[in-house]
Amino acid sequence: MSGSGYGADVAIASAFAEMAPEERVRWRVADVPNRPSPAERNLDIPFPFGWFPALLSSELKLGQVKPLRYFGRDLVAWRGHDGMARMLDAHCRHLGAHMGYGGRVSGNHLDCPFHAWRYDGEGVVHEIPYAEQIPQSLRKPCERQWPVVEANRLIWFWFHPLGEAPMWEVEVFPETSDPRWTDYDIFEWRVFGSLQNMAENAVDVAHFQFVHGTATFPTSEMIWDGFRRTSIIEAGLDTPGGRKPIRIEARMNGPGQTATRFSGVAETLLVAAVTPVEKDEVRVRFCFTQPKEQADPLAQMVAQGFIHEVCRQLDQDKVIWDRQRYLPRPIICDGDGPILRFRKYYSQFYVDETPERHAAAS
Ligand code: FES
Ligand SMILES: [Fe+2]
Repeated sequence: MSGSGYGADVAIASAFAEMAPEERVRWRVADVPNRPSPAERNLDIPFPFGWFPALLSSELKLGQVKPLRYFGRDLVAWRGHDGMARMLDAHCRHLGAHMGYGGRVSGNHLDCPFHAWRYDGEGVVHEIPYAEQIPQSLRKPCERQWPVVEANRLIWFWFHPLGEAPMWEVEVFPETSDPRWTDYDIFEWRVFGSLQNMAENAVDVAHFQFVHGTATFPTSEMIWDGFRRTSIIEAGLDTPGGRKPIRIEARMNGPGQTATRFSGVAETLLVAAVTPVEKDEVRVRFCFTQPKEQADPLAQMVAQGFIHEVCRQLDQDKVIWDRQRYLPRPIICDGDGPILRFRKYYSQFYVDETPERHAAAS
């Protein structure tokens, strides 16, 4: 791949040149007004299934209730006094109150703020304080279940459009429970686009030059393994101490769990919390952790440089993603990277595939 013609001053990079750092932080989560409808951008397609992050573990304290909005649905999460996080559809089965606003935790159950019906984590009503009898249908779990697990300092929930049970497990990264690694350094965005388009970016090798201004893109080894996808890049990094080997291992465990391990000169783990809110909105939080004792000042500098570079690239990609359409039948040329292979991998996470999408993926 030629690196000529595009340096750091690519068109999108220059859009940020005038922005103060605080302004950029605000820009990352600001609304993009006057967007065309999801249908017009061809984003009105089913959501993929998988495990997705809902909250940081630290955001849901014992006995706390939080309203959530993901996958175009209102949800409620709470943490019982047994320490377990639970999630339900937000609207009460009685008269439809949103239980995320004013709901209260009682033991491990959730009391609706309107008439205090008491729910367990499967949506079974255990108590109606003013009634002698609980109607039969309320003694059964809700049809829509939200399995929840906690791992990597995050609360994960399983989403499946037809409500099917989890098909794989959340991958656990040992660094996240190692006290020698730092608390997460968190960066946040709202991306007004499709989750699939965002994920595809990692294999879209040609855009690195034009959007990110990177002169060359090191070749990576890609492993496609069922629900998992791994790419490994081994490259050299020029440092004041000479050229040093680095390794970047990026992992996808379904559409909702991605993580990147950066190692060699310095260690950094990026755990990405990327969850659809609506058909055209994705909540993104990049959580970085590093060893508290990075080997030396050079390693510190390289690790900080990695974080800075990842965030810079996300800012640039966001400009594209916020306005991008989803094209089920893209026209691909040589040099584009394994985009069609990626689509084939990704298509396994949709239950409601149209013939066009299968054609595009095969
Ligand atoms: S609406 Fe929830 S208890 Fe009445
Ligand atoms: Fe990118």
